[in-house]
Amino acid sequence: MPQRPKIIVAGALGKMGKAAVETFLANSDRFELVAAVLRDLGNVSEQVKQDHEQRGVKLIDNLEAELNQGGVDILIELTTPDSVFENSKLALNSGVRPVIGATGLSDDDINELNSLSQKQGLGTIIAPNFAIGAILMMKFAAQAAKYMDRYEIIEKHHEAKVDAPSGTAIKTAKLISDNNGQNQSPQAGEISRGELHYGVPIHSLRLQGYVASQEVIFGAQGQTLTIQHDTIDRSSFMPGILLASEKIMELDRLVYGLENLI
Ligand SMILES: NC(=O)c1ccc[n+]([C@@H]2O[C@H](COP(=O)([O-])OP(=O)(O)OC[C@H]3O[C@@H](n4cnc5c(N)ncnc54)[C@H](OP(=O)(O)O)[C@@H]3O)[C@@H](O)[C@H]2O)c1
Repeated sequence: MPQRPKIIVAGALGKMGKAAVETFLANSDRFELVAAVLRDLGNVSEQVKQDHEQRGVKLIDNLEAELNQGGVDILIELTTPDSVFENSKLALNSGVRPVIGATGLSDDDINELNSLSQKQGLGTIIAPNFAIGAILMMKFAAQAAKYMDRYEIIEKHHEAKVDAPSGTAIKTAKLISDNNGQNQSPQAGEISRGELHYGVPIHSLRLQGYVASQEVIFGAQGQTLTIQHDTIDRSSFMPGILLASEKIMELDRLVYGLENLI
């Protein structure tokens, strides 16, 4: 393992990307931030360019060219559903390990990245949620599903989130279904009853005031059980990004979900 893995952050001017750039700069004893990728340098103000230059951050808008130069170990993918798959494929084809935080990958996309990861013998991490509390929420939900047959998910995010339901909600639904595929919630599948994923109704809210929250509600005779997680600040995701960036250097396959690494 290289002494300090060399990192590129894609989506560097987004909310998550900005926080990730700051995090890698603050952890420069453990990681080397090689470049920060944005969509189009032409649309960036001189002020933003100067701010990055002063702190030694190279801003680029051509990921492929940067990857082709070599010397990069990890791509941190924090863009949008329309870019995440192509960027991740590009990374793997260039011998670079993707840590994927952006949501929007389809099952087919994940299968293709899995095959590519195996072919290249390189790690890939897909982390629908980097927050430790959210990972515990998913683990507890998977446990509860062994004992309770009725369950629904309500996920709540900020208005600017473009995809719904969230990657975390879909991943939670899969874990619940792996542990109990017997959901008998009445009228499940009707529009007002949420969208079914792995047999689990998911209800998505997009409202000002939220960052990322999720409730997993189980029902049984005479009782309910609610497992709730709230991210109140994006700093909650940063320890998970650092953890994934360390663990990925030891992997030679794709891992879906940080719960498989802790
Ligand atoms: N895994 C987790 O724990 C976690 C937590 C929070 C969010 N997320 C996910 O992370 C992603 C980013 O979230 P966010 O809140 O930071 O969104 P955001 O503020 O919209 O940021 C996304 C950024 O990516 C840029 N971008 C899009 N395509 C690009 C490309 N091809 N090359 C370079 N940059 C590109 C966008 O630029 P433009 O503005 O020019 O389009 C934007 O600056 C989303 O998919 C979100 O769901 C994951």
